[in-house]
Parts: sequence; structure tokens; C-alpha cells
Amino acid sequence: MSVTRVLTGITTSGTPHLGNYAGAIRPAVAASRRAGVESFYFLADYHALIKTADPARVQRSTLEIAASWLACGLDPDKVWFYRQSDIPEIPELTWLLTCVAGKGILNRAHAYKAAVDKNREAGEDDDAGVTAGLFMYPVLMAADILMFKAHSVPVGRDQIQHIEMARDFGARFNHLYGEHFVLPEAAIEENVATLPGLDGRKMSKSYDNTIPLFAPRDELRKRVFSILTDSRAPGEPKATEGSALFQLYQAFATPAQTAEFAVAFAAGIGWGEAKQALFELLDAELAPLRGKYEALMARPDHIEAVLRAGAEKARAIATPLMLELRRAVGLRDLREQAGGKKEAKAKAALPVFKQYREKDGRFHFKLVDAFGRELLVSPGFASPREAGQAVAALKAGAGTRAFRGDALWLDEAEVARLAEGIEAGDVIAALEAFAAEEA
Ligand code: TRP
Repeated sequence: MSVTRVLTGITTSGTPHLGNYAGAIRPAVAASRRAGVESFYFLADYHALIKTADPARVQRSTLEIAASWLACGLDPDKVWFYRQSDIPEIPELTWLLTCVAGKGILNRAHAYKAAVDKNREAGEDDDAGVTAGLFMYPVLMAADILMFKAHSVPVGRDQIQHIEMARDFGARFNHLYGEHFVLPEAAIEENVATLPGLDGRKMSKSYDNTIPLFAPRDELRKRVFSILTDSRAPGEPKATEGSALFQLYQAFATPAQTAEFAVAFAAGIGWGEAKQALFELLDAELAPLRGKYEALMARPDHIEAVLRAGAEKARAIATPLMLELRRAVGLRDLREQAGGKKEAKAKAALPVFKQYREKDGRFHFKLVDAFGRELLVSPGFASPREAGQAVAALKAGAGTRAFRGDALWLDEAEVARLAEGIEAGDVIAALEAFAAEEA
């Protein structure tokens, strides 16, 4: 039976809330019990440093998140459960990947772009207040994933781009140095609940609308009673659609309980009564876990030991792989015969020109790189011969090439445009590769 490796990281900068539980912890613990799956869950504490400079908060969050996952039933003997900063191979791999990661790709990362956009809006310098840590975040994340040859990475939609970048960096590395990495896929669980918070927006620390997962019973009740509702009086029918209260209930109830609750809504249940029902439902599931959580929180020594044992198990994979990677890139014992025959430099796979005809009858070409990414797309030419001539000239480096904005001009005519998301520098490098080949 083939084994699927599933890996995900949890940034240690906050306290777990109900949304984290329903969206990540609960499904992950269930998945870790399935046959044919190897699960890697780790505390992404290096990532936390990108978000916060409060050491006590990082430490506290690491303890709380570890205690939460263990209280919710994660079995450290069956999975790989570790703390990122206990694996020195991860920052080491981050550097190797940094050296193959395209800066242009990182420029397009959502988190970085959002910071730049905000600065522009405020009339600030593009990079005001942006650390290199934020910029490099996707490379660190790629190292987390590639180090353990994960096949599948369960993440929220906002993280899909990072998984694509991990694939890109891994593919570039493989291409240059041989097949060392598995290229991961993002796993987006469609039927996992995204919970609304107290105000009806997505439950999130940044909206300050969360229900902490292991709030003491009294506080849990208080939070549930502060969920925003409309002003319908008891006896008036209530809409389930768009009701945060109802959605929260549904995330913890059986289908039969949910159906009953919907009937109660239609029959005009009072909001106080509905909140009490949600509170009871939550508390029934959480109370036993809360007991375990509190016991674990009282024993940081135990959690520390669990994480150290986890690190040892993870390093049993990371250390040998890192040795292999160091050798592959040339960081190696000087007594070894340098540049053996086998190693004749992996020939950079050239991009390819593809010619085709569109429905409108015109003739086009595109330039596609070794990873299948489109670099250039031509306008329509009247005949295949004209398209072919442009391709031949570009390949041979004949004529005068120049970029004007997105357009590539050859002598006095526009012959192609940059494909979406591609920068002129990427194309020039690809075209130089042709010239080098000819020479
Ligand atoms: N960046 C992820 C987040 O904020 C956390 C993370 C770090 C992660 N490394 C990872 C997730 C590797 C998946 C795989 O949610």
C-alpha cells in the first residue's frame, strides 16, 4: 500500500480558538488515525518571529498549541509532532532554496504584495516596515514541506500560493541538482467548516471575534452569549441563513440535532434559549478535552519532552537528507573526487517555442519554460512562415531585441508579449539559454 505523507505547520503566535479547532485540529487528528497516512504536524515557531517580536507570546503560544493538539487526541507515537526550531536542517535548507528561488516570484507573494499595497495607499515607500522575513516567508515554508517529502499539505485557501511556490522551488532545485524533492500538492478540505466569529465575520484573531478553544466554562458561556444576533423577539421566526449562532451550532452538532435546531428557529426560539443550547453543545464536546488541556498546561516539562522526542524522530529524516543535499550542491568533503563523470552539469532544459493556429485563422507562437510555464505569447501572424521567422530570429539572437513595457520588439516590430505574471528578466534569461546552446 502506498503511503501518503501529509504535513502541516501551525504558526505559534496566538491562542487556539474554536475556528482553529473545527477547521484544522479536529480534522487533522481524525486524518492522522487513517491507514496509509503518515502525518507531520509541527509548531512553526520560526514563522511566528515574522509576526511578533514578543518572546513571551511565542513561548506561551508554543505551549498552548502543543497542549491543545495533544489534548485533542494527537498521538505523538503515531505521528511526527515537532517544533520547527528544533530542526536546524530547516534553516539550512531554507538557504539552499533561497539560492534557487526567483526573486520575481517572491515579489508576487500575497502577504508581501498586501504590505506593499498598504504602503502605497498610505503614500509610504513600498517596502516601509516590511522585513526580509516577511518577504522570504514562502521559502522557509517550502523548506518545511520539501524537507519531509510531503505529498499533501492541508491548508487554507490563503496558503495555496505558498504551496505552488514550494513546488516551483523544489522543481528548480531538482532540475539543477537531480531528483531530491517530492513536489507537494495543496489539500483544501471543502467540507471543513470555516467558523464565523462573534460578530459574524470569519472567526479570526485579527478581527478580535474569537471564542478561545479552552476558555474556562464561565468564559465560554459569556462569549457564546455575546454572539451578535438580530433583534427578533422570542416567538418570531428566525432565519438560519446568515446566522453565526446557527453555523456554530451546525459545526458541532449531528445532522439530526442541526435539523431540530432549524425547526426551533422557524418556531421562533428566543435568542437566549438558542445561545444556551449552543453553549451546552460546545461544552459537552470541549469539557473533557479542556480537562486534559489544563493538566497538560500544568506540565510544561512533559510537553517539552514530547517535542524533543518528536524532533529526534523528525531529524532521523532531515539529517540524512540534508547531507545528501549538501553533497548535491557541492558543499562536500574536499577529498572526494571533484566533478565526477556522472555529474557533468545537469543540462539546463531549454524553454520551447510552440507554434499553433487560433480559431481566427491567425498563426501564433508561445515560449514555454521547462516547468511548463508560459513566458511569451505572440500576437497573430498572417502566415505560419512569418511566425516561424520571428521564432527563428529569437532563437538565433538575430536582430535587435527590446522590451517596451510588456511587449517584446524585434527590430521594428512587436513579436510577442510577456505572459501573465512573467517579468522581462525571466524571458531574457530563457532566450540567452538558446544563444548559449547555439554557441
Ligand atoms: N504559513 C502557515 C500559516 O500561516 C503555517 C506554516 C508554516 C505551514 N510552515 C508550513 C503550513 C508548512 C503548511 C506547511 O498558516
